Amino acid sequence: MIPQTPFYYYDTALLRATLAAIAKEVAPYPNYHVHYAMKANANPRLLEIIQQAGFGADCVSGGEVQRAIDAGFPADKIVYAGVGKSDWEILTALRNDIFCFNVESIPELQVINELAAKESKVARVCLRINPDVEAHTHAHIVTGMAENKFGIALKDLLHVVELTNELPNISFEGLHFHIGSQITDMQDYVALCERVNLIQNQLNQLNIYPSVINVGGGLGVDYQMPDLHPIADFNAYFQVFAQHLQLRPNQSLHFELGRAIVAQCGSLITRVLYVKQTDTKQFAIVDAGMTELIRPALYQAKHKIVNLTSRLDIQEKYDVVGPICESSDVFDKDLVLPVTQRGDILAIRSAGAYGESMASTYNCRSLPKSFTDKEVEISI
Ligand code: LLP
Repeated sequence: MIPQTPFYYYDTALLRATLAAIAKEVAPYPNYHVHYAMKANANPRLLEIIQQAGFGADCVSGGEVQRAIDAGFPADKIVYAGVGKSDWEILTALRNDIFCFNVESIPELQVINELAAKESKVARVCLRINPDVEAHTHAHIVTGMAENKFGIALKDLLHVVELTNELPNISFEGLHFHIGSQITDMQDYVALCERVNLIQNQLNQLNIYPSVINVGGGLGVDYQMPDLHPIADFNAYFQVFAQHLQLRPNQSLHFELGRAIVAQCGSLITRVLYVKQTDTKQFAIVDAGMTELIRPALYQAKHKIVNLTSRLDIQEKYDVVGPICESSDVFDKDLVLPVTQRGDILAIRSAGAYGESMASTYNCRSLPKSFTDKEVEISI
């Protein structure tokens, strides 16, 4: 029996296989540490599996720090970034003794120093540097260009490192970078490595030796052919860093992967409510909308959509749309599907990352439920 739609379905066997593939690639490098970027999906059942596999957590809010702790991630494997950390969020992180704050501005550094002093703590910080390296991906998810709001400008780096030395409750640990998301061209990461090498050379000349280098996340997945590439090419990804990044002795290298860990294990399962014909179009109106998966509306993202129940050989074209009162509530246009009828079940694939975590209650809808392969049997 299929539960009440819409809901997220998570293939935990694929998640485990993905985590094992990452663990295998980093095994030769004991100084590599992978932190799961919780913003991609903070579903407690997935977090439990990721935590048990030995991964750390990458957080962007006090709520995520707390969720990571609750899920059992060791505090000394938690990193925390974000341009606008509130005082209570900083305090949550300080009181839990997280591994490191990724600090994005001088005023933030000063506030962390003050709050750490009040708590009689020394806050470990990495400085998030805006490397001005272009990632070839959607404009809304590019983060490492000079015009983006993230990070400290390269030209200010020395000044800020000096400032960390003057602030008694701050300990400078290293540098943090993140150039964007859904990156499929490994040359973008080569460019990042080369930029990091240059920065390190300059710092070393001034006797500044970061102990932590964090290169963020961003590795992309195959949205067009999820069955051909259910697991991202982690070998190619980690090899870029092994070959191009000149780590210093005793330096640790940190990664913050989100999408590549969870995207392919999730599908949004939805039911066709109506098929509506107009002069020019045929709409398959489904019971999931941009409230459950906002990526198509927000980034013009394309997710593969399959009809799980139609047994008909004839194919027709459909615009697959949701029930929300917004013209942008469209999952795909002119999509060829086997003849689709009221009651059919569709799977919107590769929705494990930035699906459930970006869901909203717009139009007074309920947040989506989720089930795993242990709870319901769905063959996708
Ligand atoms: N580290 C930092 C500092 C980040 O800002 C992000 C993502 C990550 C790590 C993880 O990136 P990933 O490995 O998942 O690409 N909602 C958008 C993606 C936003 C990404 C935000 N930052 C989407 O649905 O495509």
